[in-house]
Amino acid sequence: MKPASVNDYRELARRRLPKMFFEYIDGGSYAEVTLGRNVSDLEALALRQRVMRDMTSLDMSVEVFGQKMTMPLGLAPVGMAGMYGRRGEVQAAKAAAEAGVPFCLSTVGVCSIEEVAAAGTPPWFQLYMLKDRGYMRELLARAKDAGCPVLVFTVDLPIPGARYRDVRSGFTGSSGVSGALNTAWQGISHPEWTWDVWLNGRPHTLGSVSGAIPQGRSVTDFLSWIARNFDRSVTWADLDFVRQVWDGPIVIKGVLDPEDARDAVKAGAQGVVVSNHGGRQLDGVRSSVSALPAVVDAVGGDLEVFLDGGVRSGLDVLKALSLGAKACFVGRAWAYALGAGGQPMISKMLGTMRAELATAMILTGCKVARDAEKSLLDVAS
Ligand SMILES: Cc1cc2nc3c(=O)[nH]c(=O)nc-3n(C[C@H](O)[C@H](O)[C@H](O)COP(=O)(O)O)c2cc1C
Repeated sequence: MKPASVNDYRELARRRLPKMFFEYIDGGSYAEVTLGRNVSDLEALALRQRVMRDMTSLDMSVEVFGQKMTMPLGLAPVGMAGMYGRRGEVQAAKAAAEAGVPFCLSTVGVCSIEEVAAAGTPPWFQLYMLKDRGYMRELLARAKDAGCPVLVFTVDLPIPGARYRDVRSGFTGSSGVSGALNTAWQGISHPEWTWDVWLNGRPHTLGSVSGAIPQGRSVTDFLSWIARNFDRSVTWADLDFVRQVWDGPIVIKGVLDPEDARDAVKAGAQGVVVSNHGGRQLDGVRSSVSALPAVVDAVGGDLEVFLDGGVRSGLDVLKALSLGAKACFVGRAWAYALGAGGQPMISKMLGTMRAELATAMILTGCKVARDAEKSLLDVAS
């Protein structure tokens, strides 16, 4: 199948990846209500069709923290991407750099900060608050040394949401002979992945944090270290600690509530990502797009407001911009593309999103993406 849309990359990834990795990417928490809402609330917004407006030239670029983005879309942090494609984070970083958009490296990436930075453009770096503050200090210093321009501080995961699919697929650990057979079978029955990732994509550790547990051998060892290190005592005051070590822009990721957004401003952040972690944390909360307008009203003039969650096309990007987002980030879209066929597929996916955004701008009469506003939406929607 020649992929034309994000759903097509999803289908290709489903065929190519072992079940446990596909389900990990695709799934959400609990009944996946929020995951569904992220997509359906964006779909439900109607754009206003406008005609006869000479749309020969379009400007999609935006500037964020002094960095020019060729379009208002970036790649969100996605954990363990190196298990979906050989050295997956490096492939994604190259595709993003080629497209002129930011790539944000997850704390729990298979490739380290240094490996990704050495491939070309230093990534934005995403960090969770870890109990081991000394180790956090080290990580932040490494990100700075590697030239990472922006810190994305994820705040919606003091504890991981329960993801039923990960239990069923064996992702969260399988024991005994049947568990081992299940894992082995998932690999053997996906020979392309076995060749690309299992045999030629090593080491399978969590690159940036691998020094924290020298005895760690597998991704599961590292994930359990991370799980033990999530810090649920974290408060806004702890951001002072981060600020002492990190003097660049800080983006708080995982804000849905306008009051939290105001606190982010008070704490000195330069940006927020309106996000519910792609419906992977507290199920039943509202979609990110439905939370966006109130956050923009509360803090839009004080810091950059980004959105992620449910973005599956360039049309979705324009809808989010019209509600006040400076730019969007995609998580699953690039993870599916990576699983479907690595860097070329991510590049293709970004090209498709760019073309879709252009089409949406032309058909709504929006010449400059930065100027998108509510009037692009049909008020009845
Ligand atoms: C497989 C997967 C792994 C993720 N890992 C991280 C992570 O390590 N850190 C983080 O801040 N967010 C992580 N996220 C959340 C994404 O950054 C983003 O918020 C979410 O994917 C946006 O929703 P979308 O997938 O509908 O685009 C992950 C999402 C997925 C799908």
